[in-house]
Amino acid sequence: MAIAYIEDLARHEGQSVTIRGWLHNRRSSGRIHFLTVRDGSGFVQAVMSRNIVGDELFHRADHLAQETSILVSGTVRADTRAPGGFEIDATELQVVSESKDYPITPKEHGVDYLMDRRHLWIRSPRQQAILRVRHEVIDAIRDFFNGRGFVLADTPIFTPAACEGTTTLFPVQYFENETAFLTQSGQLYNEANAMALGRVYCFGPTFRAEKSKTRRHLTEFWMVEPEVAYATLDDIIELGEALVVSVVGRVLDTRRRELEMLERDTTKLERVKTPFPRISYDEAAEILKQHGRPFESGGDFGGTDETVLSQQFDRPVAVHRYPAAVKAFYMKPDPERPDRALCVDVLAPEGYGEIIGGGQRLDDYDLLLQRIHEHNLPQDAFEWYLDLRRYGSVPHSGFGMGVERVVAWLCGLEHIRETIPYPRMLYRLYP
Ligand code: 4AD
Ligand code: MG
Repeated sequence: MAIAYIEDLARHEGQSVTIRGWLHNRRSSGRIHFLTVRDGSGFVQAVMSRNIVGDELFHRADHLAQETSILVSGTVRADTRAPGGFEIDATELQVVSESKDYPITPKEHGVDYLMDRRHLWIRSPRQQAILRVRHEVIDAIRDFFNGRGFVLADTPIFTPAACEGTTTLFPVQYFENETAFLTQSGQLYNEANAMALGRVYCFGPTFRAEKSKTRRHLTEFWMVEPEVAYATLDDIIELGEALVVSVVGRVLDTRRRELEMLERDTTKLERVKTPFPRISYDEAAEILKQHGRPFESGGDFGGTDETVLSQQFDRPVAVHRYPAAVKAFYMKPDPERPDRALCVDVLAPEGYGEIIGGGQRLDDYDLLLQRIHEHNLPQDAFEWYLDLRRYGSVPHSGFGMGVERVVAWLCGLEHIRETIPYPRMLYRLYP
């Protein structure tokens, strides 16, 4: 008998197949068992009738527990009422391995309970849907850059110095006498790679010792970071817009079923088209004032400020030219107003906050050296970075987009913890 995946059942209509999976759910009505089977590619109902399989097999199926691994064979039948469009008329059933007292039952469990069992929780339909959207987001990002002449150039995870401020560094003992830090961003190396290869991106895990418990922060998250030689701030705002539109479009095209399962209102995602509104930091501060936010001009926006700002627009908004004082050391000042940085944050709609942060880099040697000192960064760890300004410095720009923030937004999730198989947070290192 042919082995089939549930997602391919349409190709096997009328044929006998074997599904290799797990029992998700079971209900019975005297002479018929309805077994919901999952195999990772989907869920299907296998209908087992006592008349067809006989008493012995029928009775065995009566005692199957949730998550028992099973092989189910039967004929594929189209059924418009079935969620996937097909059912299986079961003729055979084989238990591979039992599952006693599976801890996650169809009843409601608390979040901590589920997070402690994250390795099992990911088997549930909702979590599977989210992880499939995540997969699609990552695939769409790669396709976007690969299709535009960008070269993937990996940046290191062990680094000698900070990129995004010294307060969120994770130190690691590096052999006997050295301390390394887990990377906060591949940007600085990306800049070197862009001077070699022109248009580059890195895409990997990044780490921040975020001591706050928020619904937007992980301590380990995945970031894609493009960097482009000769690009200006406007160029990379345009690139960021195109990336976001492309990723949203791809998920709408290929993951409708998952978004439906998550009860996501997709009309809001369908509005995500270029151009995005662009407002300056000062305009954003004005909006916050009008909405009665207790906001000190000159400071950075908090989570609630970002929510208020993003709620003014039906698509992502690009906020540019923040005060240089609240941004990283590597930002190029606006020549027209040097206390402002040539930077951009893209805020997702519906209160999902910042999904992209980036800007134009300081390409002037003297000013960069001055900034390194102002930020109390060790110059010797940055000599290689200064070299980029010694040997053929050019204007260049880039940004970073956090995968988990994007997935939380696209799936309409309350909290970022469900967007990655094993979230790492302030109080969460298990499983
Ligand atoms: O704004 P950030 O800190 O920018 C950088 O790291 C730049 N060096 C990137 C660059 O220009 N190449 O982070 C970029 C994005 C944020 O917009 C957000 O989407 C995500 O990374 N991010 C986080 N996601 C989850 N948890 C956290 N703790 C995050 N911190 C940043
Ligand atoms: Mg940022």
